[in-house]
Amino acid sequence: MVNRALDVVLLGPPGAGKGTQAKRLASAFELLHISTGDLLRDEVARGSALGEEAKAFMNRGELVPDEVVGRMLYAHLHSQSAAGGCVFDGYPRTTEQAALLDGLLAELGRRVDAALYLDVADDEVLRRLAGRRSCATCGAVDQTDGDRCSSCGGELVEREDDAPDVVRERLAVYRRKTEPLLSLFRDRGLLRDVNGVGSRDDVFASLREAARSVRR
Ligand code: AP5
Repeated sequence: MVNRALDVVLLGPPGAGKGTQAKRLASAFELLHISTGDLLRDEVARGSALGEEAKAFMNRGELVPDEVVGRMLYAHLHSQSAAGGCVFDGYPRTTEQAALLDGLLAELGRRVDAALYLDVADDEVLRRLAGRRSCATCGAVDQTDGDRCSSCGGELVEREDDAPDVVRERLAVYRRKTEPLLSLFRDRGLLRDVNGVGSRDDVFASLREAARSVRR
């Protein structure tokens, strides 16, 4: 029997481990990983018009306007690699984005199958983001104290929006605009709570189990 597409939304505060786990989930279930944060950073790095529009919002820890992110998402969702389903990492972040995602998936005869919520407290978020370094060459997220990427040897850099005052703003924006999505998905019977604290392997095992329970 051919599996139908599986579309999973990963929710959680900044630094909850969405990016870390979304990559592994996408690989385990053969889904496309769509990270709006990564796509926006890529637009900024390329100096595109969209990137120029987004940059100031990102550096202040604010959300990029729904319309700008929606435009970018549309193209990726309609690509061939998205046909088997997606892990949405960092999207939706507002109730308007949730409605847009429903509409875009409906056009493809699909719907959100599950929303997996990575629960991590603020003090752990602050600790993790203070230690985060990403590779300027391959984009791998690393935690070493050195200045070279353990995957490709590229230079490790800090994200501008990981400065403590920007992280606090990102957390405030998350509470105000994104947290309401938890009840939205809970009311639809789609939310699965997952403890985001523990080893990366343990968190992944819980997420994979939650995603499997949806596919059955
Ligand atoms: P985005 O890049 O999506 O940022 P975020 O949601 O704030 O999430 P992060 O990337 O900071 O964290 P994460 O949960 O992915 O954790 P990670 O796996 O890296 O968005 C950035 C900005 O873009 C937004 O502020 C906004 O301006 C804009 N934007 C993006 N999407 C948008 C949208 N839809 N609408 C409007 N604007 C949008 O892990 C964090 C650290 O913890 C890493 O160092 C990692 O190694 C470590 N770690 C991971 N798991 C564990 C563990 N189990 N134990 C210990 N450490 C761990």
